[in-house]
Amino acid sequence: MNLHRTTLLAVAAAMSMFTASAAHAQGQPPIKVGLMLPYTGTYAALGDAIENGFKLYVAEQGGKLGGRAIEYVKVDDESDPPKATDNVNKLIKRDNVDVIVGTVHSGVAMAMAKAAKDSGTLLIVPNAGAGAVTGPMCAKTTFRSSFSNWQPGYAMGAAMAKKGIKTAVTITWKYAAGDESVGGFKEAFEKGGGKVLKDLTVPFPNVEFQALLTEIAAIKPDAVYTFFAGGGAVKFVKDYAAAGLKDKIPLYGAGFLTDGTLEAQGAAAEGLMTALHYADGLNTPRDNAFRLAYAKTYKLQPDVYAMQGYDAAQMLGIGLAAAKGDVKNKAAIAAALEKATIDSPRGKFRLSPSHNPVQDLYLRQVVGNENKVIGIASKGLADPGRGCKM
Ligand code: BEZ
Repeated sequence: MNLHRTTLLAVAAAMSMFTASAAHAQGQPPIKVGLMLPYTGTYAALGDAIENGFKLYVAEQGGKLGGRAIEYVKVDDESDPPKATDNVNKLIKRDNVDVIVGTVHSGVAMAMAKAAKDSGTLLIVPNAGAGAVTGPMCAKTTFRSSFSNWQPGYAMGAAMAKKGIKTAVTITWKYAAGDESVGGFKEAFEKGGGKVLKDLTVPFPNVEFQALLTEIAAIKPDAVYTFFAGGGAVKFVKDYAAAGLKDKIPLYGAGFLTDGTLEAQGAAAEGLMTALHYADGLNTPRDNAFRLAYAKTYKLQPDVYAMQGYDAAQMLGIGLAAAKGDVKNKAAIAAALEKATIDSPRGKFRLSPSHNPVQDLYLRQVVGNENKVIGIASKGLADPGRGCKM
């Protein structure tokens, strides 16, 4: 057989396989995606942005992933951990979803990760950074498109120590995200020679900061490190400035402090420096295309949450394409994601062995309504995935 004929036969075989699998996927019902996100409360805007981003990617693929149409079932988790197990079980047992996408709040995400793992349901976490999800609770079928709480904290701690800051006070909400963000910060800051003088907390989603701001003023650290997000971040940044602290004790944070919040924070946020796996002004063709499409579709600028939602859909698409639309073939989906390079608006990334993004953490500074990238705080930072056994 000559080379030309061999090539033609190979192409014909590949095309018939492609047609067969496309036809197979065509005849199938839609894939049911359970969106479990906060649509009310302090994290409501974050949930909306994640859903927008997810749906944008699906729309860009003609409404299909792996050749299958997508159908959505939505649950408002209210960022309320005590309701999380019931909420996730509604999706798994009542609605029979094929995959769960959620959520924002780490406490809710941990209940979801347990229910998803116990039932073998695919779970893509598009925000919540709880270390346990890609640590002791990790699973072949659980993936994260976002970050671990440790990552931005560690990157900011390293950058602050490098700047020569010697002492800091931390302030955050008392729950997994705050504790772990501060934990990452401390690890890097103290390794770099810094000292944390005091850790201050308020219960989630409390926003009564006055007494703690008075305490910070009395301690007089070189700087403050904080984790707040959503509505709480807006209030904290405004209160910090109103207390007269902004020009006396520089405020730094995990980038959620100023992401998706700048319009509401106004001048109180100007100049703040944060670390995050996304920033304004990356100016790459991939990010520019994403931003343009998002702005056109929603008449809004995307933020980190929109980008994480977009990448959650992208990851599901990669898995489903490898499984030829067979969402039950979880081994094929996992194998594809474990070896994928995900072409994210943040920059390309791969997943760690525990399924968390290995990514650059940008150093950003607020200029007007933007979190301008001013450098890279930690390059290719991988969460240690402590306690994950798969
Ligand atoms: C969390 O609970 O993990 C979280 C919430 C909002 C922003 C970032 C992290």
